[in-house]
Amino acid sequence: MAVRIAVCLSGRGSNLSALLDALPAGGDVVVSLVISNRENAAGLELAAGHGIPTRVLAEPGDASAWLAVLRRHEVDLIVLAGFLALVPAGVVEAYRDRMINIHPALLPRHGGRGMYGRRVHAAVLAAGDTETGATVHLVTEEYDRGQILGQAAVPVLEGDTPESLAARVLGVEHRLLPAAVLAAGAAGHPVPFSLTPQGSAVRNVPCPAP
Ligand code: GRF
Repeated sequence: MAVRIAVCLSGRGSNLSALLDALPAGGDVVVSLVISNRENAAGLELAAGHGIPTRVLAEPGDASAWLAVLRRHEVDLIVLAGFLALVPAGVVEAYRDRMINIHPALLPRHGGRGMYGRRVHAAVLAAGDTETGATVHLVTEEYDRGQILGQAAVPVLEGDTPESLAARVLGVEHRLLPAAVLAAGAAGHPVPFSLTPQGSAVRNVPCPAP
């Protein structure tokens, strides 16, 4: 039986799109539900266009509402892909080691509460970092602190702006998240993984020990 995943998002859903493109029909993994805290999130339309059930959680702090919908759709794994609300502790507990997040920086740098979107890339530039990237990690009660499962780095270039950096990092997110989900599908649960090199500027970052 395929591993059933719920993707949670708050915005455009380009990571969902990359994931759907990468998942083979009849493979180990199926996106069986898309959850949002925002009813106008463009990612919901994308999901509906693929025939995937969607659900808006107007009160994302209500763990019992989450658990009811996750149970109804028999969700095995949760993928946070641009989900900008806090997942309640009861859901983190119920899905411990079965929930991953993608963060647009090389954690543990530039993560934590309030570090999302443009702010992350502005912080990378302000710190003078010479590379940045994306991280997939397990979700725990602390923002961006769970075990790192995979990372890929891209260079910071002279003249970069938060926007140019965001675009470069997004390109690597679109490879990293599908790789994480395919690895999780094959193993039955999230596991450390690495990207297959494609001769680009992307560099795999070895996983630190948990
Ligand atoms: C991505 O940069 C993701 O890493 C971050 O939010 C953004 C979501 O983009 N957490 P999209 O909705 O997948 O296009």
